[in-house]
Amino acid sequence: MTRERIIAPEESGDETEFHKGLRPQSLDEYIGQPGTVERLKIAIEATKARGESLDHLLFHGPPGLGKTTLAYIIALELGRDINLTSGPALERPADMMPFLVNAAEGDIIFIDEIHRLPRVVEEFLYSAMEDFVVNFTLDKGMYSKPLPFQLKKFTLIGATTRPAMLTRPLRDRFGIQQHLDFYDESDLTTIARRSAHILETKIEAEGARELARRARGTPRIVNRLLRRVRDYAQVRADGVITEQVAGEALRLEGIDELGLDRLDELMLRVIKDTYGGGPVGSAALAATMNEEVDTLEDVVEPYLLKIGFLARTPQGRRITRRAYEHLGEPPPPDAITPQPSLLDEAFATDAKARERKRENKRGDGRAEGGP
Ligand SMILES: Nc1ncnc2c1ncn2[C@@H]1O[C@H](COP(=O)(O)OP(=O)(O)O)[C@@H](O)[C@H]1O
Ligand SMILES: [Mg+2]
Repeated sequence: MTRERIIAPEESGDETEFHKGLRPQSLDEYIGQPGTVERLKIAIEATKARGESLDHLLFHGPPGLGKTTLAYIIALELGRDINLTSGPALERPADMMPFLVNAAEGDIIFIDEIHRLPRVVEEFLYSAMEDFVVNFTLDKGMYSKPLPFQLKKFTLIGATTRPAMLTRPLRDRFGIQQHLDFYDESDLTTIARRSAHILETKIEAEGARELARRARGTPRIVNRLLRRVRDYAQVRADGVITEQVAGEALRLEGIDELGLDRLDELMLRVIKDTYGGGPVGSAALAATMNEEVDTLEDVVEPYLLKIGFLARTPQGRRITRRAYEHLGEPPPPDAITPQPSLLDEAFATDAKARERKRENKRGDGRAEGGP
């Protein structure tokens, strides 16, 4: 695609600075994810009281939900240094060495996209994480005996959109594991208002809610929408983001009332038209759409699953009754009504979200004639 996708939850180069400025600096400033925030507060307080280092910590969840933000906040709250790297940047154990050797007691090493860590580096990390020792081979010469090297008790924070791709031994070495789920509308509204305040942009409550509704549960997207709408408000309105201004600006960007854009729509239509509604595997789907499998699985799918437009079955993806309705077509008689996934249920952090899910489930149960 030539055009940058405004609702892509990944960060793109030119906006790094923009997002940095909007990052909350403490757990109290962090909006939403109450379960995660509470658990982290307890862990941080206990760690400080004992004067120890924090357990290794793994954050998983779709992009743009605040994993990196939390890693920075933890470092700030602990008063420790944090160093950042990522799975693909660490090709060999030697690439990991500077981070390990330079970490003081309690310092944080953050590995983004930890599921993309090469196997050799991953195995190298086992003893580093568990015993704070690495066996490092200096070179391949005749003295190539591994040298044990004692490390300080650092904390590793890993972030991943794909926890299932981590090997069991690596996952087990994280004492704390937190899943971040999509944010609800009220939290996203609060984030929109907070960000507007930082950017000194006037936004009405209904304007903020309009952004929240279309942000696919993702703080990074709500901030990005705010940025676009702010420009529009400045040029086409008197600078104030009202519900109407937000709606007009986002329509102009090709984002519908649910926050879905052309790529989402394309995926739904390809499943419907080319694959008769599914099931279809993601590789076939990606090939037909001329997209990366990773983009579909990490970026497009999670939200479509979340809002019940897509269902995962052992045979592949199917679009649901609700998706047909959204596309403005009558669903075929065998169209499915999705059940909320077990994962969503288990990880629901927010009472309201749980309540909504219970209601949906009751509704779906009726539609399907019982569970
Ligand atoms: N809980 C939150 N409250 C307010 N803003 C948030 C929150 N979580 C994320 N953000 C905003 O969204 C942006 C993306 O978050 P980030 O931590 O980079 O996501 P991830 O690492 O999960 O992809 C951040 O720059 C921050 O401005
Ligand atoms: Mg990140």
